[in-house]
Amino acid sequence: MSLAIAPRDLDALERQVQAALRSGDYGVFDVLGHGEDTLVLKVRTGEGTFACKRLPPFPDYDRFQRYEETLARYVGQLSAHGITVAPTELRYLSRGRSGGVAYCVQEALPPAQLCSKLLHTRDLGWAKSFFARYLTAIGRAARPDLGLDAQASNWFDLDGELVFVDVTTPFLRDGRGREQADVGLLLTSLPWILRGAVKAVMLKAATDKYYSTRGIVLDFLGNLYKDRLDSLVPVFLEQANERLEVPLSSGEVARYYAGDARMWAIVQRLRKADRFWQRTVRRRTYPFLLPPTIRR
Ligand SMILES: Nc1ncnc2c1ncn2[C@@H]1O[C@H](COP(=O)(O)OP(=O)(O)OP(=O)(O)O)[C@@H](O)[C@H]1O
Ligand SMILES: [Mg+2]
Repeated sequence: MSLAIAPRDLDALERQVQAALRSGDYGVFDVLGHGEDTLVLKVRTGEGTFACKRLPPFPDYDRFQRYEETLARYVGQLSAHGITVAPTELRYLSRGRSGGVAYCVQEALPPAQLCSKLLHTRDLGWAKSFFARYLTAIGRAARPDLGLDAQASNWFDLDGELVFVDVTTPFLRDGRGREQADVGLLLTSLPWILRGAVKAVMLKAATDKYYSTRGIVLDFLGNLYKDRLDSLVPVFLEQANERLEVPLSSGEVARYYAGDARMWAIVQRLRKADRFWQRTVRRRTYPFLLPPTIRR
């Protein structure tokens, strides 16, 4: 990105977010997209148009700096292993003694070039050539200490180059398989009903797959069901199995997606229950911008 978002524009966005969290009305936002955790907001400014993803609140600046370091290391590792990452900047807005909020800011890329969109709009020939490029990129990058959440909605195709955007969860592990990222921080948006041990087990189960080519491809194919692209599964399976040591089957993909969808549906329901509890019983402002209900 040539120019960064101006502090006043980010402050103005955060004021809008605070108001929306209080009122529960997200109507003012221009939403570029969302994943399981949050919304990505489009901000048009004199300096350019930005994609801003609000991260879970940070208890203090120190915690933010450590996260920033891990994220920089993650992006560095992805780049070193051949992945083109959209230029990404983290910004911290202090809120005094109650810590701060941070945004992950990227240039707003053209929605029509999102790969999950292109798989709907382009023909089968394009899909096959995309998937060949995709498999090469993943095969080069994924390893036991470097992972990616690489579903189609996390990539843009810009002039034939695959550009990865979803880097806010740094999938870096040490030699003993422990996550390098601040796991507690990443889990704060999971409802308190899920206690520490449950969260830790969920995290391990939910992230193991991102550290191997096979797991990433399985997740990619499973998510095609969510994007109503499952007619592509047989074609992509054939392409993937030419490269995988242990082949995947359509049954495994369907079973995987059913399990994953169930898990996320439960998390989504619990989050909404938590939000209701925080707002109506505790009379607190719920601190996360939740995505709309996701059809699975
Ligand atoms: N730089 C960008 N330009 C345009 N749209 C974007 C950009 N970054 C993200 N988006 C849109 O927002 C969606 C969600 O973004 P992203 O994948 O980064 O977040 P997420 O899946 O919610 O993240 P997480 O998996 O960490 O919860 C993308 O699928 C895309 O539609
Ligand atoms: Mg995503």
